[in-house]
Parts: sequence; structure tokens; C-alpha cells
Amino acid sequence: MTRPPKLSVAILGSGNIGTDLLIKCLRSPLLRPTLFVGRNLNSAGMAKANGLGVRISDRSIQAFIDEPDICDLVFDATSAQDHQVHAPILRALGKVVIDMTPAKIGTICVPAVNLEEASKADNINMVTCGGQASIPIAHMIGKFSSDLDYIEVVSSIASRSAGPATRLNLDEYIATTERAIMSFSGCRRAKAILILNPATPCIDMQTTVFANIVDPDLPALRKRAEEVVASIQRYVPGYELLVPPQYEHGRLVITIKTRGLGDYLPSYAGNLDIINCAAIAAAESVARISLLKEATHLA
Ligand SMILES: NC(=O)c1ccc[n+]([C@@H]2O[C@H](COP(=O)([O-])OP(=O)(O)OC[C@H]3O[C@@H](n4cnc5c(N)ncnc54)[C@H](OP(=O)(O)O)[C@@H]3O)[C@@H](O)[C@H]2O)c1
Repeated sequence: MTRPPKLSVAILGSGNIGTDLLIKCLRSPLLRPTLFVGRNLNSAGMAKANGLGVRISDRSIQAFIDEPDICDLVFDATSAQDHQVHAPILRALGKVVIDMTPAKIGTICVPAVNLEEASKADNINMVTCGGQASIPIAHMIGKFSSDLDYIEVVSSIASRSAGPATRLNLDEYIATTERAIMSFSGCRRAKAILILNPATPCIDMQTTVFANIVDPDLPALRKRAEEVVASIQRYVPGYELLVPPQYEHGRLVITIKTRGLGDYLPSYAGNLDIINCAAIAAAESVARISLLKEATHLA
């Protein structure tokens, strides 16, 4: 029996996001990781990749310049600042890029809302963990009101799951999440807040969306919220509605919890899964488009 062809992918950035993403890529029926790239061969992520039998390099972006045919798609899991440098180089090399950082360069992708359209872009931006958790909900709320003034999204994640690059990118996290919430919901103002909770044992990722909305159809909103959550669970199994839509004092409140699959960090780190499962969905969509193009070309 012939195996279905796979899209060759590489991961740039060997931290929490990059290493968890590698494990998810190895499970995908459509993706084949050919290179795991960082800048330090002694990091925990490099050791994990090596143990999984994946080729590793500490040559950062130079690894792709040296070997331009090593992959078709690159996930950039470094930092927003580094992605500003990597993006033009990877574009010149003809790579599709899935940007895991909040660098705001490419087309925003939230699979439950715009997977098909976004996966045609050459730089696909996965927003942020809080963005992936809240934007489908904000988008749904936007459909219930033509005059939405304000949405606030508060996410809390375990401090242990936020690597140095996540800490460096907190300002970018806020700006990128707020911009995406406004763009997908149509609201005039948005506020994003991220809490790095240092408690041990580590806490699960939790996200609450608050919206100022006049007289919403609550039963219809509750029904729609369940459908939206089910659509996200197709690619993020640990996403669940913790508090269904409640309305009091002119404010709608919805709370989501995300547990991870425990691939790299334990399952409290739903913040890795919410963005990495979304990125896998985007990469698999790119793979389907590219494999279809190839098949049409051969026919
Ligand atoms: N953690 C989360 O919950 C989360 C969720 C969504 C999005 N993000 C975003 O994802 C990115 C990574 O976050 P993280 O938590 O995984 O941080 P991290 O653990 O610090 O990982 C970043 C990794 O990238 C490597 N790196 C940095 N610049 C590089 C370069 N120029 N070339 C090669 N490797 C480079 C670092 O190498 P060294 O080991 O040598 O420092 C580190 O291993 C950040 O932009 C963050 O905002 C994080």
C-alpha cells in the first residue's frame, strides 16, 4: 500500500512552543518534520528533538540559507523581534511561513473562523494563545450586535509554560491580540490582559471574554456558543466552555478552559495546545492545497 505524500516542514525555535509543535507535527498524517532549528545544541528542546530522531541544527536562519530545499514550510517559534528578521529571508527562499510569534506581519489565521482563506497566504500569523482561545467567541458575539463598543479578554496561564521569548513579547501579545479581536468582531475598542500565574501546582489555561452589548438574545447566544466550542474541539480537543454566556449589568461574560494533550509540558499548558493545534490545522490545510496542486500538475 502506498503512503499518502506529506509536506516537509521545519521548526525554527527550540523552546516551549517549538518543541511541543514538533511532537504534534510528528503525529500528523500530512506533515513530515525534516529539521528542528535553534541556536544552542544543549537546550532541552534540542535534546528532545534528537531523542525523537529528528535532525537538529544550531545555525538558526542560516540553516535554511545553507540548505534551501530542506523543507516547504517553516514554523517560526522564536520571538516577534527575530521573526522580523526571518520573514523576508524565508520569503526570498520561497517558503510558506507559519508565524507562532505576535509579530503581526502576515495574514491572521484562526482556524474556526478563516482557515481556508488564511492558508493561501505565504506568511500565516497564529496571533497569540489568548487570541486563539477568544477570537472565535468574539467573532460570534460580533454576529449578534451591529454596534459593539468594547470587548475585554483576560487569559491566565501557568508561568512555567511561558518561555523567555513569551515574556519578551508581552507588549506584542497585547497589541496583536487586541487588533485581531477588533478585526474579527467589529468592536471599536478591545483590551487584552495576560496573567502569568506562578502557582504550584500549575494552573490550567483559562480565558474570559467580557463584551458590552445591548439586550442580546441569550438563548440563541448559548446555543451558538456550544456550536463554536464544538468546532474548535475538532482541532483543540482540550477546549471547553467553563461558563456559558451570562448577561448582567449590560455585560456578556463567557469563560473557556483549555487543557493540553501533555505532549511537551503537562496538560495544564493548554496555552501551548491552543496555538499549536491551530498551527497544525493551518499547516495541514497548506499541505492539502499544495498536494492537490502537485497532483493536478502531474495529471
Ligand atoms: N508559551 C506560550 O504560551 C506561547 C503561546 C503562544 C505564542 N507564543 C509565542 O511563541 C514564541 C516562543 O515562545 P516560547 O514560550 O516557546 O519561548 P521560549 O521557550 O523562549 O522559546 C523560544 C526559542 O527560540 C529560540 N530562538 C530565539 N531566537 C532565535 C533565533 N534567532 N534563531 C534560532 N532560535 C532562536 C530560543 O533559543 P535559546 O534557547 O537559545 O534562547 C528559544 O529556544 C514567542 O514569540 C511567544 O510570544 C508563546
